[in-house]
Amino acid sequence: MNSSKSTVETLSWVGDLDGHLRMIDQTQLPGEFLEIDCIEIQEVWDAIKQLKVRGAPAIGIAAAYGVCLAAKNAIQTGAQDPQQVTQEQADYLATSRPTAVNLFWALNRMKPVIQSDATDLADWQRRLLAEAKEIHEEDRRMCHRIGECGAALLSDGDSVLTHCNAGGLATAEYGTALSVFFTAQDQGKSLHVFVDETRPLLQGARLTAWELRQREVNCTLICDSMAAQVMKEGRVQAVITGADRIAANGDSANKIGTYSLAVLAKHHGVPFYIAAPTSTFDLDLEHGDQIPIELRESAEITDGFGRSTAPSGVPVYNPAFDVTPSELIRGIITDRGLIDPVNASRIQEVVAD
Ligand code: MRU
Repeated sequence: MNSSKSTVETLSWVGDLDGHLRMIDQTQLPGEFLEIDCIEIQEVWDAIKQLKVRGAPAIGIAAAYGVCLAAKNAIQTGAQDPQQVTQEQADYLATSRPTAVNLFWALNRMKPVIQSDATDLADWQRRLLAEAKEIHEEDRRMCHRIGECGAALLSDGDSVLTHCNAGGLATAEYGTALSVFFTAQDQGKSLHVFVDETRPLLQGARLTAWELRQREVNCTLICDSMAAQVMKEGRVQAVITGADRIAANGDSANKIGTYSLAVLAKHHGVPFYIAAPTSTFDLDLEHGDQIPIELRESAEITDGFGRSTAPSGVPVYNPAFDVTPSELIRGIITDRGLIDPVNASRIQEVVAD
C-alpha cells in the first residue's frame, strides 16, 4: 500500500471493554466528514438502516461491534441472562437490512462466542470484542488480497467503469472494486475510472468520486444513463463493481443498476467483473432468484437531497439491489484468487472451506 496517500477508516472500536463503536456518517459525505459514536444497539441498527454505515462488509463489521455493545450494556444494566439478551439484540440487528449477506455472516460468527461460557463476564466480553476485531482485521486483509488479484487484470492506461461505492467506506479500509484500482495505481499503473453517480442515493458521486480523489486516482463522474454511450465510444476497458451477496452459481446481487451495466458490457464486448471477499458468498442459495432484495422508501426517489423532484403521491418502486446473472460475469475477483469461469464448481473449489 502506498502510505503517502490516506485511506479511510470507516469504523473503529474506541476504548477497551467499556468502549463504543465510532463510524464515519456516510450520509454527510462529501460535504462534511463527520464521525458519530454508537453506544446503544438502537443507534447501530439505525445507522445501518439509514446508510450512515453501508456497503456489505462494513455492515457486517458494524453488526459485530454492535454485539459487543449489546453485551456491555447487558452487563452494565445487570441483566439476569446477558447471553440471552445479547443474542436477542444480535437477532434484532439482523433485521436492519436484508440483502448483504455479510451482515448475517458476521452475526453468525459472533453467535458461538455469545453462547460460550460466560461465568466470568469480563472474559466473555473480551472474547466477543476479540472476535469482532478479528472480523474487522480479516476484512482488511481480504481487501488487500482482492486488490492484488484484481490489479493483475488491468494494464497501464486502462479506463474502468464502476458503480455504487465498493471502497474503503464500504469495508474495513481499502475496498473491493476500489482496492483493485488503488493497488494497480500503487503498482505504478496509470488508470482512469468512470464513476456512475448511482441513483437514487448517489453513492458513486458522493462516496466513490470522493475516495478516488482522496487517493489521487483519475476519475470522471457520469450519470448512470450515460454508461452505454461511454462504452460505445470505446472509452472503457473493463467494468468492476462490488457485490452484496453471491449465490452458489455466481449470480451476484449488487446496487440497483449493476445488472444493466453487465448487459451493456456484454453488448459492447467489455469484460464485467465482480470484486468481493469470501464473506459475500452465500453457498446456501443455489441461484440469484433466492436473494432477498431490499425495497426502500419512495422518498429516496421523489425527494432526494432536499428537493421534491416528482409529483406528490406518484407511485414509486424502489428496489435497492438487482441480481446480475453469472453468465454475464467474466470473473469474480476474490481474496482467494480469480473465479473464471464463473460457475458453481469453480466457486465451490475457491470459496468452500
Ligand atoms: O445500499 P448500499 O450503499 O449499502 O449498497 C452497497 C453496494 O451495493 C456495494 O457495491 C456492495 O455492498 C459492495 S461493498 C464492498
